[in-house]
Amino acid sequence: MIEFINVEKTYGNQVKALQEINLTIEQGEFVAIIGLSGAGKSTLLRCINRMHDITGGQLIVDDVEVSSLKGREIREFRKRIGMIFQSFNLVTRTTVLKNVLVSLVPELPFWRRLTGIFSKEDKIKALSALDQVGILDKAYIRVSQLSGGQQQRVALARTLAQNPDIILADEPIASLDPVTSKQVMDDFKRINEEMNISVIINIHHVEVALEYADRIIGIRDGKVVFDGKSEEVTDEILDNIYKGQMEKKTMIEDKEE
Ligand SMILES: Nc1ncnc2c1ncn2[C@@H]1O[C@H](COP(=O)(O)OP(=O)(O)OP(=O)(O)O)[C@@H](O)[C@H]1O
Ligand SMILES: [Mg+2]
Repeated sequence: MIEFINVEKTYGNQVKALQEINLTIEQGEFVAIIGLSGAGKSTLLRCINRMHDITGGQLIVDDVEVSSLKGREIREFRKRIGMIFQSFNLVTRTTVLKNVLVSLVPELPFWRRLTGIFSKEDKIKALSALDQVGILDKAYIRVSQLSGGQQQRVALARTLAQNPDIILADEPIASLDPVTSKQVMDDFKRINEEMNISVIINIHHVEVALEYADRIIGIRDGKVVFDGKSEEVTDEILDNIYKGQMEKKTMIEDKEE
């Protein structure tokens, strides 16, 4: 369970990226966070795995206060939380399998991980993660030879091999075509349902968010302006979440006239 209690995040430059965030996300939920560019979506996600420190309130993940973690504890904590980026963050000149294996031994220095010898147990874990996302046949192919969608699946397999409780995905389909996006979203959905892994995803495609997520959290100017079931999202609610843009757009149009 993830609990935000009056969470605030102010960056060094005094930008208030998050304010008064109060949320409870239960284990196994599929949540989409939507909102304008700059609303605070990435910041919110990154506070959960302590990539960013919160500057106020409390953030509790499975009974642990995230701010209280130190050094080694942070690394242990992060193993339970997979993070997926738009840019995949893969090493493209090496094989799919090695990219997945690397996540299993994060303690090793980077060069050892790339050249390193992995245990049979780790290899089985990595291969089964690739199987779960349907790209087992690509295990020995270089990542650079895969399509964008296949690369995103490698990133997902890498996260799955860690056996996480939570997957955070920051715009995982932003650079994919609609068909590939659907495949990747189907993977997330399946993993969420079959493995009871919580999935929290930042996404600009509202239709996709509504189709896949059970719950939508709308963020505007660092605040939660909507939190409810996908079915409850109406055009008025979307207008409110994206209000800033509507107003700005009108202002620009007014000026142009
Ligand atoms: N490292 C940082 N240092 C200072 N300010 C930052 C930093 N990261 C983000 N911000 C600011 O915090 C606010 C929220 O940014 P954030 O990246 O969370 O938005 P977002 O909703 O993810 O946007 P996008 O949809 O464009 O990815 C913005 O005003 C941004 O400029
Ligand atoms: Mg972002």
